Amino acid sequence: HGTSQINSKGHLEIGGVDTMDITKEYGTPVFVYDVELIRRRARGFKKAFETEGMQYQVAYASKAFSCIAMVQLADELGLSLDVVSGGEMLTAKRAGFPMERVHLHGNNKSLEEIQMALDLDVGCFVVDNFHELDMLKEQTEKTKKSPHVLIRTTPGIEAHTHEYISTGQEDSKFGFDLTSGQADEAIKRLKDHPYLQLKGIHCHIGSQIFDTNGFSMAIEKLFSQIIRWKEELDFEPEVLNAGGGFGIRYVEGDEPLLPEEYVTSLIHTVKEQSAMHGLKIPEIWIEPGRAMTGDAGTTLYKIGSQKNIPGVRRYAAVDGGMTDNIRPALYHAEYEGVLANRANDKAEDTFAIAGKCCESGDMLIWDLPLPEIAEDDVLAVFCTGAYGYAMANNYNRFSRPPVVFAENGSVQLVIKKESYEDLLRNDLPLRSAERV
Ligand code: LLP
Repeated sequence: HGTSQINSKGHLEIGGVDTMDITKEYGTPVFVYDVELIRRRARGFKKAFETEGMQYQVAYASKAFSCIAMVQLADELGLSLDVVSGGEMLTAKRAGFPMERVHLHGNNKSLEEIQMALDLDVGCFVVDNFHELDMLKEQTEKTKKSPHVLIRTTPGIEAHTHEYISTGQEDSKFGFDLTSGQADEAIKRLKDHPYLQLKGIHCHIGSQIFDTNGFSMAIEKLFSQIIRWKEELDFEPEVLNAGGGFGIRYVEGDEPLLPEEYVTSLIHTVKEQSAMHGLKIPEIWIEPGRAMTGDAGTTLYKIGSQKNIPGVRRYAAVDGGMTDNIRPALYHAEYEGVLANRANDKAEDTFAIAGKCCESGDMLIWDLPLPEIAEDDVLAVFCTGAYGYAMANNYNRFSRPPVVFAENGSVQLVIKKESYEDLLRNDLPLRSAERV
């Protein structure tokens, strides 16, 4: 998919760049992003809104993959930006991203983060709880800044990867509960505030969702509250933020919709509900993370040691693992891959691809069909572009791999490989130790 293909040498090519040239220059492991595919995804999400003549914002959920170059690309693509921490906020600032299009999330924003957001003129706070609301009131009264605010609600729809279930009890750490009066209380406290401008309502039902029913149910639930809020509280949201969660195809059998299909369905439900209840059609905002960058990312590893347990399993270890992709260990997430240096060779056996961390659970793929492999073959693992680098860590004191962008036959380094010096940078010697 995307712009990846196999060239005349039998090598995997991404964005018109031979992956063997990438490993030669940057080593392994390395994350490679197909920039054209990110552009295509962004266009898909936006196109549906434009076709339907909607007021909208598509905010890239930068938790999926954030770095300065990625945020700059999001800006180029006319996206807004969802950030959840001081670190993601600062990345946006340093990238020169227009801060009025930044939306700050978080279920436990610190005072420092709130102050930083006000200081940087972040456009919108997605308020999650009363503790935050109180801090925000105090800080805006102090600074006289007047940001937009959305209230995050938990609509009681919980998406579970392939399906959704209605949770009668809204048991979630995020947002204001709809049924017990918490959301009403938040609206009351925000509505006529001299500085905070209450714009609307937010909900996010989960991640890696394949169909549209969960979104429709959440929107219907919100509308049933909106008619009541209009009557009882004189509040009608101008903005309805439906969150992210649009699924992607990791492995055969995953059947996501296209970005434009998710959005079209959302728009239809909102229009239908607005008409049914005689309400203005609100602006719709969404926050895709995974569906924006997930399938644009590929990780290239070098194959090293092998272990054959006759009749049981053949292991092949790569030079990365749960430090650059924790999703298999954490969620039993599945991936597909090919040998990037011999992409036309036929599969002959099934391999269990192990990482190099000191932990049995550090497995990337349990049953990958591959040709007979040799040391120094390069394994490409697909769809690692969201929550891959973003969740990378330094377990075992491994350093984080570099990240490159590939497009139109050229490649650009966007995150350097962490060096040993980077790893030790914050360490301080034991006071009584003599030799350090
Ligand atoms: N908006 C809100 C409020 C969210 O909490 C999230 C994700 C998103 C948007 C973006 O969701 P997406 O479109 O990427 O599904 N680490 C997990 C995923 C955690 C998602 C957390 N929230 C994983 O690797 O699958």
